[in-house]
Amino acid sequence: MKAIVFARFGEPEKVLEMKTLPDPTPPGLGEVLIRVTKRQLHPGNLMMVRGMFNIPLPADGFLIPGADGVGIVEAVGEGVDAARVKPGMRVIFNPSPGAWAERLKAPAELVTPIPDDLPDAIAAQMGPNAVIALMLLRAAQRAAPDAGREIPILLNAAGSSVARFVTIAAQRRGLKVVGAVRSAKGAKAIADRFPDMSVISTADPEWFDHVRYAAGEQPLQVVMDPVGGATVSEFVPLLGDGGALLLYGAMAPDPIIFPMSAVPREIMFAGVSSSRWMHNTSAEQRREDVAEAIEIGRGAPEKFEVEADYDLAQFANAIEHLERKNRHGAVLLSSDL
Ligand SMILES: NC(=O)c1ccc[n+]([C@@H]2O[C@H](COP(=O)([O-])OP(=O)(O)OC[C@H]3O[C@@H](n4cnc5c(N)ncnc54)[C@H](OP(=O)(O)O)[C@@H]3O)[C@@H](O)[C@H]2O)c1
Repeated sequence: MKAIVFARFGEPEKVLEMKTLPDPTPPGLGEVLIRVTKRQLHPGNLMMVRGMFNIPLPADGFLIPGADGVGIVEAVGEGVDAARVKPGMRVIFNPSPGAWAERLKAPAELVTPIPDDLPDAIAAQMGPNAVIALMLLRAAQRAAPDAGREIPILLNAAGSSVARFVTIAAQRRGLKVVGAVRSAKGAKAIADRFPDMSVISTADPEWFDHVRYAAGEQPLQVVMDPVGGATVSEFVPLLGDGGALLLYGAMAPDPIIFPMSAVPREIMFAGVSSSRWMHNTSAEQRREDVAEAIEIGRGAPEKFEVEADYDLAQFANAIEHLERKNRHGAVLLSSDL
């Protein structure tokens, strides 16, 4: 099978290469062998290749990026409930390392069959972005049980795939969100996608006042931010005492600044990570999360635009595309084009 691999950390264009590897061995106890058809590219995939996560590289081998996608079950191992997962079924898998390969083996509990009316291109977007969005909403509720009821939750980088999920999932719960993005063009694109949502461009010198206005002149309870960097501290004055800044990414190159003014006001900076989903979320909640993601994808497929779909062999073009500014849809890597 073909697979994209890397044997050292670095810039993706320098360290990633396509290799032909032996097909996986037959699935073992509780495992499912999947022929992967599509995967969504995520900024996190590139962070992993750049060595920004604490994942060791095997001394004499390589790693395959990607941990989620959609595919067809080719075989199941012993102990897999045949009523739930069987050969020929279309499924999503998450998280199961090695998705940038044509085939992988995944534990059956992380594999979910998908309905016929959910196309691969949408199903491929129902992985970690849905998980982190639902985790963020739970974290917001822990920080302030009525977050989003009267006072909206502020979503920074509101044009991102994760923010799109947060917005839809919040609307399903009757919660209000306000979006912030770094350009007027980006704000317009989100307003077109979510006409009922207030979206503010932080490029506007008055953006601070616009957020206050959108929040009914009340201090915010929760801000969700995947950007990090120095700008995080700019959200602190918008938060009320005891408010929470939920940090779930670090797209800005500079370090996060924690202003001392946050201390006497007991503003909380809290990390939220989908890597904790496997360990800190019950199996029942995980099943509910995946079921909600599938329901969201079926209910609003028009919200999950695909901006580009590349063949696996064109991974370098796909990565370049992922890192373009003002992108408004997913970038996919396919093995069935
Ligand atoms: N903690 C977790 O478990 C977890 C899980 C999934 C994702 N994430 C993180 O969530 C973030 C978003 O992921 P995604 O897949 O949703 O991304 P995405 O769809 O690729 O979107 C990225 C968005 O971030 C914006 N952006 C990039 N750099 C920025 C900067 N310096 N300042 C302001 N905005 C910036 C872009 O805005 P423009 O439109 O203006 O270009 C774009 O809207 C990433 O940091 C990712 O690592 C974390």
